[in-house]
Amino acid sequence: MNKTLEEVVSIEFNRQIGIDTCLMGFRSTSLASLAKPGQFLMIHLGRETKDPLLRRPFSIHGIKDKNKLMILYRIIGKGTSLLSTFKEGDPISVIGPLGNGFNLPRPNERTLFVAGGMGIAPLFFLTQVLNEVQKHKFKMFLGFPTSQEVVLLDQLKDLNVDLSLTTEDGSLGIKGLVTDLLDQYLGQRLTKRPVIYACGPTPMLKKIAQKSFTFNLKCYVSLEGSMACGLGICQGCAVKAANSKDKPYYYVCQDGPVFPAEMIDWEVM
Ligand SMILES: Cc1cc2nc3c(=O)[nH]c(=O)nc-3n(C[C@H](O)[C@H](O)[C@H](O)COP(=O)(O)OP(=O)(O)OC[C@H]3O[C@@H](n4cnc5c(N)ncnc54)[C@H](O)[C@@H]3O)c2cc1C
Ligand code: FES
Repeated sequence: MNKTLEEVVSIEFNRQIGIDTCLMGFRSTSLASLAKPGQFLMIHLGRETKDPLLRRPFSIHGIKDKNKLMILYRIIGKGTSLLSTFKEGDPISVIGPLGNGFNLPRPNERTLFVAGGMGIAPLFFLTQVLNEVQKHKFKMFLGFPTSQEVVLLDQLKDLNVDLSLTTEDGSLGIKGLVTDLLDQYLGQRLTKRPVIYACGPTPMLKKIAQKSFTFNLKCYVSLEGSMACGLGICQGCAVKAANSKDKPYYYVCQDGPVFPAEMIDWEVM
C-alpha cells in the first residue's frame, strides 16, 4: 500500500495563468519524495471555517527542485473559488499522495498523450518524469473549448512535446475536438502502435477508450469524477467494472484514478 501523509503546508505561490485557471505551488519534501504522476491530493479549502467541509481532489501537476509540488486548477465552484484567494504564506491542509498513478511506458514504447482541459494537469507531470529518462519527443493532443482557456504551451514545448492543439471554436490551433485528432492519427497506417495516456472529461475518455478497443491499443485513462472522501470510505466515487465477477465496482480514489480502459464499463459511464 502507498504511504499517505496529512500535512499543513505553506503556499509559495498561487497565480492565475489563464482565464479561470490557476497554478499553485507549495513546499513539502516528504510529499514530493513520494509523489508519482497520476496521483492526487485531497485539499481542504475551508481556511479557519469548516465550509466547504469536504476536501477537493487535485492531480499532482508537477514537482520542482525535489521539494515543491504544484497543482493546476480551474475555478468552477465554491471550493476552487476559495482556493484562488489563498496567498503566499497561507497554510493549507493536504492529504496525499493518493491513488495508484500511471504505469510508466517501457523505453521502446511509443506514447500518445491525449488531454482535455484540466486533464493536462496529471499528464504534464507524467511528461516531466518521462522527459528525464527518455530523450525522444512525446506526441500530445491537447484540447480546450477556446483560446482563452489554453495554458502551458511554452512549458510543454520545453518538455520536448510534439504538441497538436485543438479549440472547439477554432480560436487557436485546429478547430474541433481533441478526439478528432485521434481519429485522424489512428486512421493513418502506423508503423508502431502507441500506448495512449488520456485524462479529461468523461465523454472524451469514453470516445478514446472505444477507439483503443477498435484499434486494439493499450490505453490508460485517468478519471476525474466527484469524490467526497478520497480515502475509500464513502463509496461516492464508484465506477462500474467491466467483466469483473469478483469486484463489480472500482473506487476511483483507491483502485484508480488511472485504469486500463478495458477495466471500466463505459456503457454506464
Ligand atoms: C482524481 C481527481 C483529480 C482531479 N484533478 C484536478 C486538477 O488537477 N485540476 C482541476 O481543476 N480539477 C481537478 N479535479 C476536479 C476537481 O476536484 C473539481 O473541479 C473540484 O472538486 C471542484 O470543486 P468546487 O468546490 O470548486 O466545485 P463544486 O462547487 O463542488 O462544483 C461546481 C460544479 O462543478 C461540478 N463538478 C465538480 N467536480 C467536478 C468534476 N470532477 N468534473 C466535472 N464537474 C465537476 C459540480 O457538479 C457542480 O456543478 C480532479 C478530480 C479528481 C477526482
Ligand atoms: S471518494 Fe470516498 S470512496 Fe472514493
